Amino acid sequence: MTILVTGARGSIGRRVLDRLHAAGHTLRASSRTPGELGVPAGVDVAALDLNRPRTFDAALRGADKAFLYAEPEGAKELFAAAARAGVRHVVLLSSSTVGDPGAETDPLALHHAAVEDALAASALSATVLRPGAFAGNAFGWSEAVRSGQPVRLPYARAHTAPVHEDDIADVAVAALGAEAPAGRTLTLTGPRSLSFREQIGILAALLRREIPVHELTRQEAVEQMGRFVPAPVLTSLLDQWAASVDRPVTVTDTVERVTGHPARTFQQWAEDHLGAFAQD
Ligand SMILES: NC(=O)c1ccc[n+]([C@@H]2O[C@H](COP(=O)([O-])OP(=O)(O)OC[C@H]3O[C@@H](n4cnc5c(N)ncnc54)[C@H](OP(=O)(O)O)[C@@H]3O)[C@@H](O)[C@H]2O)c1
Repeated sequence: MTILVTGARGSIGRRVLDRLHAAGHTLRASSRTPGELGVPAGVDVAALDLNRPRTFDAALRGADKAFLYAEPEGAKELFAAAARAGVRHVVLLSSSTVGDPGAETDPLALHHAAVEDALAASALSATVLRPGAFAGNAFGWSEAVRSGQPVRLPYARAHTAPVHEDDIADVAVAALGAEAPAGRTLTLTGPRSLSFREQIGILAALLRREIPVHELTRQEAVEQMGRFVPAPVLTSLLDQWAASVDRPVTVTDTVERVTGHPARTFQQWAEDHLGAFAQD
């Protein structure tokens, strides 16, 4: 049985690949630039661009299951190719924004919903993962923290329930397993809702030094973040954060229900990645 893992260089895809490899599965890892993909010994590598249907058949040949990133352009063709190749189960990395209020007009939600809809319209058995904010988004603060500068961010009291990337990968692997929960949509969060200030406070306590926070106005955030983040995505993020200032977000118990272990805390994530925030 071969499992195709797309996004094998991505923060989630790589973890999924490593877990499946450790469990002894036959794997194919894909990338748009497969030559740059380092994989464990024995893992097959394929060129796959989710936006380019002519790359689909070769990458899917002989695959029984697939872990897929969500790319709307080409999604319908991708699922048709997967069905042709005999893929029996798909695990899709989507986003909790699809289930949020206002999803009908939110660009991030629409991006993922288009792929979920194409998957639902296909004949494939599937598990859809809808994670909320990744704990790893905190890497966005690492450069400032390392260099002793204030963390500059808007809506410092906005809440997320950061989910550890290891937990998303654990759930994905369970969903790819023999007893895969087919036809299910799993909304994943971390175990606690925390404001950005609280998350930065956890990093500061572990580093044993203050991390100053400079709160940006929305306009300043548009100017600063707009250099790296496409405008519709930025609007979507800023709207989400504005709506969750001082408002804890709903936490799910999906990680524990599916994996049997409690969801990892943000404290755990920060301990796992403290090196990225430590001064030289
Ligand atoms: N960050 C959050 O808080 C959050 C929350 C919910 C959902 N999400 C969703 O999670 C996903 C990001 O996950 P991540 O952190 O693992 O990503 P990541 O580390 O940024 O990696 C992105 C991966 O996607 C692959 N990729 C991108 N475009 C592709 C294409 N056209 N064809 C094939 N592969 C493509 C890249 O592969 P190559 O470059 O090797 O081709 C790369 O491995 C996004 O869909 C995002 O919307 C994120």
